[in-house]
Amino acid sequence: MSLKIHRLSADNYKRLRAVEITPDGNVVVIAGRNAQGKTSVLDAIWAALAGGEASRATQQPIRDGQDTAVVKLDLGEYIVTRRWTKNDSGTLTIEAPDGARYSSPQKLLDEVIGARAFDPLAFTRLSARDQKAALLATVDLPFDPDELERERKGVFERRTDVNRDVAKLEGQIAGYPLPDPSLPADEVSAADLLEEVQTAQEINARRQRHQDEIDYADSRILDFEEQLSLWRDADSRILDFEEQLSLWRERRQKYVDGLALLGPEIDVSDTKERLASLEQTNARIRQEQQRKAVAGELSDRKNDAAALTIKLRSIEKQKADALAKVQFPVDGLGFDENGVTYKGVPFSQASSAEQLRVSVALAMAANPTLRVLRILDGSLLDADSMRLIEEMAADHDYQVFCEVVGDNGGVGIVIEDGAVAAVDGVKVA
Ligand SMILES: Nc1ncnc2c1ncn2[C@@H]1O[C@H](COP(=O)(O)OP(=O)(O)OP(=O)(O)O)[C@@H](O)[C@H]1O
Ligand SMILES: [Mg+2]
Repeated sequence: MSLKIHRLSADNYKRLRAVEITPDGNVVVIAGRNAQGKTSVLDAIWAALAGGEASRATQQPIRDGQDTAVVKLDLGEYIVTRRWTKNDSGTLTIEAPDGARYSSPQKLLDEVIGARAFDPLAFTRLSARDQKAALLATVDLPFDPDELERERKGVFERRTDVNRDVAKLEGQIAGYPLPDPSLPADEVSAADLLEEVQTAQEINARRQRHQDEIDYADSRILDFEEQLSLWRDADSRILDFEEQLSLWRERRQKYVDGLALLGPEIDVSDTKERLASLEQTNARIRQEQQRKAVAGELSDRKNDAAALTIKLRSIEKQKADALAKVQFPVDGLGFDENGVTYKGVPFSQASSAEQLRVSVALAMAANPTLRVLRILDGSLLDADSMRLIEEMAADHDYQVFCEVVGDNGGVGIVIEDGAVAAVDGVKVA
C-alpha cells in the first residue's frame, strides 16, 4: 500500500484561516512571506497524523479567537479528519472512501504511517548520535549495537585497567636488582649458623686440648731422654725412667690417636663471615623472593591483557561480520560508535549534495507507506539541490512538501495571511 495526500484542508489551525490544497506533482512548494502560515500548513499534516506527540509539541493549535480547528487529509484509501476543540482532547476519525468509519483510528495511523512527516534536512542537522539512532531505526540489525558497544567498552576499560597494572608492575620490577643465581632461595637462619660455629668451636677446643697434651708429652719425653742419657749409668734410676718414658709415650700416642679421630682443624672464618653478612644476604633473598612474586603477577596481568585484546577483536569482528550482512537503505552508509558514516567518513564530512541525497533516501526508507516528506527549510536549497529532490521524489514516487520563503518565482502554492493566495502564479479569489 502506498499513501499520498490527494487533498488537504485546514481550518483555523495555528496561523491558518481556511486552506484547501490539491497537491500536484512530486514536489509541493508552499511559498509566501514570513509569518503567513507556511509552516502551519506543514504542521497541520503532521498534527493530523501524529496525534499525541504532535499535540504535546503544539500547545495552541486553534487559531486565536476561534473555538475549533479542523484538518482533513484525503489519503485516497483513508480520509483522516482531526478536530481540536477548546476544552476537550479533540477527535480523530478515519473513513474509507465509501464513508465507512474505522475504529481505533490513531492505532491505524500509527501502524500505516511509521516515521511520519520526516524532514530530510532536519536529519542533516541532527546530532551524530541522533542521526545514528534514526539510521538504525530504518534497518534490521542482527545485534543490538548499543549493547555490543557497551560490551566492547566494558572489555576495553577492563583492558585499560589491566594495562595500568602491567605498567605499574613493570615499574616495580625495574626497581629490583637483577637475580643472583648464587643466592639461596630461602633466607638463612642465624641460629643454624651459630650452631655450626659452636659445634666447630667445641671440636677445635677439644683438638687444642689434645694438642696441648701432645706438646706437653713431647717436652716431658725430651726431659726424660736427657735425664736418661745423664743417668744411663745409674742402673737404679734407669728402670724408673724407662717406665716413665714408656708411660709418656703411651700417653702421647693416646692423644695422637684422638687427634686423628677428630680430623683436621675446622676453619670457621667463612661461617663467621656469613654470619656477619647474614642480615644483608637475607635482605637480598627477601628482595629476590618479592621480585619473583611481582614478576609472576606481571606475567598474569599480561596474559589477562592479551586475553582481553582477543575478546575485543572478537567483538569487533562480530560487529563487522554482522554489519557486512546489513542492508542499509543507501549504499555506502554505515555507522561507528560516534555516528553515521558515508563512504567510510563521518556523515557530516560528506558533501552537501551527498548529505541531501542520503537524507532523502533515508527519509523515504523510513516512510515506505505514507509517501509524504516535508522540508521546512526549503529556502536553504539551491537550484541543484532542489532538482535532486525533485528527481528522487519522481523516481521513487514520493510527495515532498517544501516550505520556501518568498513567492518562489510564481511556482507553487503561495500562502498569504493564513490562506492560499495563488497557485502556480494564478491568484485564488
Ligand atoms: N494559534 C495561533 N493563532 C494565531 N496565530 C498564530 C497561532 N500560532 C502561531 N501563530 C502565528 O503564526 C505565525 C507563524 O506561522 P507559520 O510558522 O506558519 O509562518 P511561516 O509562514 O512558516 O513563517 P516563516 O516564513 O517565518 O517560517 C506567527 O506570526 C505566529 O504568531
Ligand atoms: Mg515557517
